[in-house]
Amino acid sequence: MYLASLETRKHLPYVAGSVVFIVVTLLVNPWSVGHFIDHTATFGEEAGDGLLLPITRENASAIFNTVQGALRNKNAQVEPIGVSFIPAYIPEGTLLYHGNGDGQIPEGLEWVAMDHEFSYTFIADRGKHPGKHPGPPGGPGKPPSHWKPGKRPGPGPPAPSGGSGHTSMLTFRVREPLSRMILLDGSSAAKTTSGEMDQQFLLANMKDIDNPLFGEFEAAERICEWGKSFGLDGFIRIEMGYEAVICDFFDKLELVSNITVDWANNTLNLPIKLSDESLNEEYTDLFKSISAMEGYDQIRAGNVHDKRDGRILLDFSKFQTMLNRTYVGTDPYTRRIYNVSSDLREGIRDDLARVLKPGTNPYQSTNWQLMTTEIVEKFSPILRLINQTLSSDEATDLEKAKNITVFTTNTVRRFAQWSGADVSMESGLERAKLLAVKEYAHPLEPVASASDALIYSSLHKVTEMIVDAVFESFTVSRTIINSYFLKEDIDFSPLEKLQSDMIDLLNTLRWDSTFYRCSETCAWDEVCYTPSWGPSPLGWGQFGTYEDADGKRRIEPDLRCVSYKTILGHGGRPF
Ligand SMILES: *[C@@H]1O[C@H](CO)[C@@H](O)[C@H](O)[C@H]1NC(C)=O
Ligand SMILES: *[C@@H]1O[C@H](CO)[C@@H](O)[C@H](O)[C@H]1NC(C)=O
Ligand SMILES: *[C@@H]1O[C@H](CO)[C@@H](O)[C@H](O)[C@H]1NC(C)=O
Ligand SMILES: *[C@@H]1O[C@H](CO)[C@@H](O)[C@H](O)[C@H]1NC(C)=O
Ligand SMILES: *[C@@H]1O[C@H](CO)[C@@H](O)[C@H](O)[C@H]1NC(C)=O
Ligand SMILES: *[C@@H]1O[C@H](CO)[C@@H](O)[C@H](O)[C@H]1NC(C)=O
Ligand SMILES: *[C@@H]1O[C@H](CO)[C@@H](O)[C@H](O)[C@H]1NC(C)=O
Repeated sequence: MYLASLETRKHLPYVAGSVVFIVVTLLVNPWSVGHFIDHTATFGEEAGDGLLLPITRENASAIFNTVQGALRNKNAQVEPIGVSFIPAYIPEGTLLYHGNGDGQIPEGLEWVAMDHEFSYTFIADRGKHPGKHPGPPGGPGKPPSHWKPGKRPGPGPPAPSGGSGHTSMLTFRVREPLSRMILLDGSSAAKTTSGEMDQQFLLANMKDIDNPLFGEFEAAERICEWGKSFGLDGFIRIEMGYEAVICDFFDKLELVSNITVDWANNTLNLPIKLSDESLNEEYTDLFKSISAMEGYDQIRAGNVHDKRDGRILLDFSKFQTMLNRTYVGTDPYTRRIYNVSSDLREGIRDDLARVLKPGTNPYQSTNWQLMTTEIVEKFSPILRLINQTLSSDEATDLEKAKNITVFTTNTVRRFAQWSGADVSMESGLERAKLLAVKEYAHPLEPVASASDALIYSSLHKVTEMIVDAVFESFTVSRTIINSYFLKEDIDFSPLEKLQSDMIDLLNTLRWDSTFYRCSETCAWDEVCYTPSWGPSPLGWGQFGTYEDADGKRRIEPDLRCVSYKTILGHGGRPF
């Protein structure tokens, strides 16, 4: 069965090694989904499984959200501090973009962006203009004091230090799959000391970084050096769009386009200074708008990938995280891993080296993100409806019970066996819950690694928490409406506990990246913008954020619609 289905897969050479791996795994590994599939009629009762590891609600939820947020721009910004490492794969044929000052293929490690708009903003206005640069830096977002425009390490290079004074846009094509990449979750390319860069500093074995801008390059060098022993191709991060550090451009990439970018005035076929000086302000405004549109294009390219950058594939069967190794905190704005013990540091580096050595194979492992997405899409409105109903000041308790019955009955009924079939109502509901959990959280391929088992256990736990809450809401409400319609005394008191349980569940789930949205529908020339934490056309971490009681900046739950005019209104692009 495996061989047959493998025949049809495109990337045979990479699969060949895995055939052996999987066959061996099936023979020796007790973790197989077999009994789950084979006993369909009773699988509701087989829910326990030797596969499920004990895990706390908080850790299960954090791992669930890491899987759900992987390669999604919005999630990465709303949960800015990542503490995990997700082995990734960039297929053959994918285009990667790099802007630089000399048009040469980088000799050492360098940055590439997944979107050319992203690379372009780094080099568009960096040519050595003889004359004043239109659209001066400014704007409300204050970069940290060590920030030097034009000196930025990122998908763009430092500004050209001489030569022709023109920058270049290079397009690379992946010639051979980049099968040993690591995705760093969270807002991992924000140049901060608040935790967003922790995974890089950990992999690089660096501590006490006082300047993330310079620490960043050193970290990349050290990570690529560390990766040589197992063939690391690079690592993937997000600023506003996804980008990657490529350790060796000559290994698996080929250059397919090399554009020397002209000065903006040349592109418009106009001199840098007009002879009629009265037109100069108007002329500068035109360049400001072009520059704002450039920033908007970059924002838009990132925003498109709120739903997922589908060009990168993930192999969750090799997932590694600090979450199951030590306490790192539960708030994705304050959790940290920079100071874990050297044992933990070495442990995760060794585990990554071990799992990456044979290469990733995203085609042969469960895509757990499909599962988390279905769960979030299904249950986020139901949980919020219940929560909102319970906390309503206007509704009577009876109304609340009726409404919750409306929101939950179909979900319960679909899983509950006909009570005429010799099943007591209570055990029927217990069985229904088990079945519901299994149907929402199940592996698609054999659970063949400790990582799969960890993720499966997390998804299972989270789904169990949700299903329990939905069923509890149903039974509490049902008892109330039973009493009402049967003219018995009604006890409304269980609604209170239900409410606090629901608030507690939502706090544990932390589905902010689903709940945060634009309250109005954005116009066709706008995007619903999730602020990012690094430099951006709208400044550095200020627009659309607020400061909490501890002085920590967080994203406002009400996201804003943004157009190029918003950028103009903020004084143009700040860099
Ligand atoms: C890209 O084009 C420029 C300008 O023609 C040239 O100097 C440079 O060598 C080219 N780069 C490569 C890698 O061919
Ligand atoms: C654009 O500006 C540069 C620098 O001043 C100048 O050399 C060039 O001739 C200008 N282009 C046009 C079309 O006038
Ligand atoms: C997560 O699991 C680790 C390892 O078992 C544990 O040390 C930590 O306290 C757990 N964190 C939470 C928030 O439950
Ligand atoms: C690491 O730092 C965090 C916050 O910066 C702190 O809460 C935690 O106790 C520290 N852990 C260790 C092992 O020092
Ligand atoms: C309950 O449902 C009714 C009818 O759909 C609706 O008018 C009312 O606003 C709902 N109450 C709450 C608290 O959701
Ligand atoms: C749940 O209800 C509480 C109380 O009204 C509210 O503060 C909280 O924001 C709600 N949670 C969500 C996710 O809507
Ligand atoms: C944590 O999970 C990884 C798989 O991601 C596993 O290899 C490791 O043994 C686990 N560690 C602990 C302490 O549970």
